Amino acid sequence: MKRACVGMAVGTFVVAATFWFGFSAQGASWQEEPAAASASKALFNSRCALCHGPDGHGSDMGKTLKVKDLSSKEVQSLSNDDLIQVISAGKNNMPPFKDSLKKEEISGLVRYLRTLK
Ligand code: HEC
Repeated sequence: MKRACVGMAVGTFVVAATFWFGFSAQGASWQEEPAAASASKALFNSRCALCHGPDGHGSDMGKTLKVKDLSSKEVQSLSNDDLIQVISAGKNNMPPFKDSLKKEEISGLVRYLRTLK
């Protein structure tokens, strides 16, 4: 029983620390370093462009799956949290990426999405 309590305390601390770092990183700069931004672009091209096209407008395959234009007002008006949620958990034909991408990679992708025009 004592073990479980220690485990829980450590767990809570890790969650709290993750939140804290997450928030302070966002507060400091939502804009990324150029190197990180180009890594996000490369990630988008390797993991997302198959359906969304390199510019986010949708590939031929994506169009048959009914992707939305990621540069559209409809998608851009979603909050960062909503975008993170869709990329993590998926939606209809959109596959979930929470198991194959790290949290930071997903938020990097959201930042990249904001640059699509
Ligand atoms: C297998 C094809 C496929 C891949 C790969 C894919 N998506 Fe999607 N995505 C879709 C489809 C289909 C939708 C439309 C879902 C819907 O609203 O029905 C979508 C929707 C979205 C949306 C808009 C969500 C909304 O609520 O309208 C975002 C943002 C998005 N994808 C980001 C990404 C990112 C980032 C990646 C790469 C990590 C990615 N997608 C990879 C098929 C894909």
